[in-house]
Amino acid sequence: MIEIVDVKKSFGEQKVLRGVNLTISKGKTTVILGQSGCGKSVLLKVILRLLPLDEGKIIIDGEDTSDYSEREMMPIRRRIGMLFQGAALFDSMTVWENVAYPLLEHGKTDDFDEIDRRVMELLEFVGMEDAANKLPGELSGGMKKRVALARALVTNPDFIFYDEPTTGLDPITASRINQLIRRTQKKYHTTSVVVTHDMVSAMTVGDYFAFLHDGKIAFAGTREQLLSSEVPQLREFLAEAVPREYLERFLGAKR
Ligand SMILES: Nc1ncnc2c1ncn2[C@@H]1O[C@H](COP(=O)(O)OP(=O)(O)OP(=O)(O)O)[C@@H](O)[C@H]1O
Ligand SMILES: [Mg+2]
Repeated sequence: MIEIVDVKKSFGEQKVLRGVNLTISKGKTTVILGQSGCGKSVLLKVILRLLPLDEGKIIIDGEDTSDYSEREMMPIRRRIGMLFQGAALFDSMTVWENVAYPLLEHGKTDDFDEIDRRVMELLEFVGMEDAANKLPGELSGGMKKRVALARALVTNPDFIFYDEPTTGLDPITASRINQLIRRTQKKYHTTSVVVTHDMVSAMTVGDYFAFLHDGKIAFAGTREQLLSSEVPQLREFLAEAVPREYLERFLGAKR
C-alpha cells in the first residue's frame, strides 16, 4: 500500500501538486486520470523520488520515505517497476540486454544462466521472445512498450507504475497492452498504478480511479462511483475523454 499525504510539488512559481491525498491499495490497480499537463507523471516521479518532494508524506507499506536520502530510496526503488511514458529503452542495447539491465545493475546475481532464464521468461510473457537480439530501433511502439514492461517486471517488483501505457498506440495494440496489464496483475499480484488519459484503457485495467485536477485529487473511488460522480470537472473530463459509443455501451450494460 502507498499512502500519499498532502503532497506538494512546485517548479519555481508553478504549483503542480497542491496537496495530493491518495491511498494506493495493495494488489489492486489504481488508475490516475487527468488532463495533459496536470501533474500525473510528476506524481509518479515524486513517489519514486526521481523528483524531490516539497511537502507532505509518502508512506510505502508503512515505511515513511518522505525524508529518505537517495541512498535510502534505493531499496524502495528496486521494489517499484516503472514503465516510463515513451518506453525509455536504451537504444544501443539489444532487447535482451535492456531487460537484463536491472539485474546486472543491481548485481543481485552474476549467474548468467539464471539471468537468461529470467529474461527469456519475461520476454515470453510479453510475447517478445523472438526479438531478444533486436535493437529498440527495429521495434514498433507497441513492441517497445512490451519490452519496457518485461524490463519493469524483471526484478519481481511489488509495485508497478505505468505512465501512459497505451498513448500513441492503435486500438488493437492498445488493447493488447491492456490485456497484458491485467495478466501481469493476475500472475504477479503487483500493486499497480496506471496513469492515463485513455478512458478505454482506464476502464479495462482499473479497480480504483482517481482524478487529478488543479493539483489535487478531485475524486477517488470505484468504477461505479466514477461513472456516477457529480464532480463537475470530472464529468467534463469524462464527456470529452470517453468515446460516446463506448460510454453508452458501458452504461447500457449497467442498467
Ligand atoms: N522537471 C521539470 N521541471 C520543470 N517543470 C516540469 C518538470 N516536470 C514537469 N514539469 C511541469 O509540470 C507540469 C505537469 O507535468 P506532467 O508531466 O506531470 O503532466 P502530465 O499530467 O503527466 O501530462 P501528460 O498527460 O501530457 O503526460 C507541466 O506543466 C510540466 O511542464
Ligand atoms: Mg505524463
